[in-house]
Formats: sequence, C-alpha cells, structure tokens
Amino acid sequence: MAVISRDKKIIAGNWKLNKSPKETQSFIEEFAKIAQATKDFQKISDLCRFVICPQASSWESFQRTVKALSTSNSPGGVLELGAQNCFVEAQGAFTGENSYLVLKELSGQWVLVGHSERRTLFRETDEFLCRKVDSFQKANLIPILCIGETLGEREGEQTEEVLQHQLRDGLKNASEDLPLVVAYEPVWAIGTGKVATVNQVAHAHKFIANELIKLGFADTPILYGGSVKADNSKELGNIPYVDGFLIGGASLQVTSYLGIAQSLI
Ligand code: PGA
Repeated sequence: MAVISRDKKIIAGNWKLNKSPKETQSFIEEFAKIAQATKDFQKISDLCRFVICPQASSWESFQRTVKALSTSNSPGGVLELGAQNCFVEAQGAFTGENSYLVLKELSGQWVLVGHSERRTLFRETDEFLCRKVDSFQKANLIPILCIGETLGEREGEQTEEVLQHQLRDGLKNASEDLPLVVAYEPVWAIGTGKVATVNQVAHAHKFIANELIKLGFADTPILYGGSVKADNSKELGNIPYVDGFLIGGASLQVTSYLGIAQSLI
C-alpha cells in the first residue's frame, strides 16, 4: 500500500533556475494574500497539497517565510518545500552539489528525481537515479521519480517500453514501505505548450499504475507534467490515476499556480 495518500491532489511547482530568495519570499506572501481572499480556499486546501521546488539557494527564504505565515495562521502556511535535485550522498567531497540534510533541516520533504532536464543536460542515468530514490527514501524524504518518453520514442511507438524500463530501473532498490511518488512527463510536452491529449495521458497513467502494481508499489500517486495550465488542468485532473501535477512555467505566478488547484474543486 502506498505510503503517500492519493486522497489529496499534489500540486507541485518546479521553479527550475528561477526566483531569488527575495522573489521567493514575495511569491509566498502574495500566495498567502490571494489565498486569504479566495472564498473556496479551505475547500481547495482540503483537496490539494501545495509543494514548491525552488532552487537550493532559495530554500531557506522559503522555509522562513512559510514558518512566519503559519505561526500567524495564514493560508501561506500550507506551502510545502521540495528540492529540484539533491546529491545521492548526504555530505562529503562533492563540490557544487546540494545536500538533502540541508533540505531536511529546513523541513523540506520532497525531492524531484530524474527530471528530464537532469537526465538530458546533466546525463543522470537510470542507475544513478535508482541510488537517489533509495537514499532519499531511507532519509525519510519523498522522492518524485520523473519518467517520460521523447517525441522520437513516442513516434517510434516505444512509449510503453521507455516508461517500463525507467520505472523498473529507477525503482530497483526502492521500498514499498517508504514514501514514493511518480511523475509522468512526456519530454515533448515540457515547456513547449504542447500538452498531451486526454487519451495519451489516460493511457500512460493507466499503464504506469499497472506497472507499479506489478512492482509492488500499488496506489503510488502519479502526477502528470508538461505544459499544465489552469485552462487544461480540470480536464487532466479528471483522468483516472492522475493524482496531481508537476508544473513548470505556470507555477511561477501565484494566480496561475493557484488557478490550477482551483480548477479541481
Ligand atoms: P512546464 O514544465 O509546465 O513548463 O511544461 C514542467 C516540468 O518541467 O516539470
């Protein structure tokens, strides 16, 4: 049985290399203000978990701002901290890397693993990502393993094969008794404005859910990512096995980020 409940939709923002510590603080304060003025916010936050993954240099600002808001009972207190990436080891001679111990110290719980930009630009292999899933789970963090096919692979009818091997290789050492989330992000839909069709998403999520059952990870939440916006999120959110979203561009503005959650109620 999955450790992370599928009862709530996970609305995860991936800010990539954007937003300084100051801009991070402003986003959170604006989120709090807009949420306060949103009539249905209680209903939205009953249904959704709000996760944001800022760049590592903004983690501290994120945590400080959210903590200050939660002590004053502001709705900004619902925001949860995640990392876009952490190194596989906790500490040591690894120049330039980010430690998950720091994320934990700042109360961050979530870590993206194997986002397509990490796989392509930073050459992270399935073997390396498998080690990350294992070490983050053991550290009691929630790895979000990102998988997805390229356009060439889709056109070559290799989508299922790619998803299957990315899941099998990535989860080789994972534990079904520890937290885990999977994100399906077709590479051709990331940052392109080309959102996958309802049929494509439905098919891929069902396939992933079945693979997860075979691997012993039944009921693991599966997020969809790739050009998600407030005007397509309702339709996507209604697809079976879509348990939330991983959002790039549209997570950078409060209104579009919150709008995605709002579309689901
Ligand atoms: P996008 O990015 O929403 O801008 O397509 C998604 C992602 O990279 O996770």
